[in-house]
Amino acid sequence: MLKLFADAAKVLPYNFNIMPKVKIYPHEEICPDGAIIEVNDDETICEAALRNNIRIEHACEMSCACTTCHVIVRKGFESLEEASETEEDLLDKAWGLEQTSRLSCQAKLNSEDLEIELPKYNINQVSENH
Ligand code: FES
Repeated sequence: MLKLFADAAKVLPYNFNIMPKVKIYPHEEICPDGAIIEVNDDETICEAALRNNIRIEHACEMSCACTTCHVIVRKGFESLEEASETEEDLLDKAWGLEQTSRLSCQAKLNSEDLEIELPKYNINQVSENH
């Protein structure tokens, strides 16, 4: 039986064990050297980053009620499922909003890799400094 699976794996067009990756561009405080992380099934970008000790802020504990986990998707944005209305409404309040902004605690990868940038500030830092 195991041989059958091993043979099937050789001829299947896809390797189902390959996990999508997120390339995180360097951010002075959170990820100075940048990083490439793998994302498990059903894991959000934020969860994968935290699991890899990249401390994306997540003030509402990933319940889609703040914007501190805002990221800008630089590559692969179209591969993500659409943002919910709640996420879209929150994103309007995010510092440095762009067309390809997402809340990382809500965005889950499909099979495609992503490249993301962490904004220089989040809404908490902006309000603390003003
Ligand atoms: S952590 Fe609050 S919306 Fe993502």
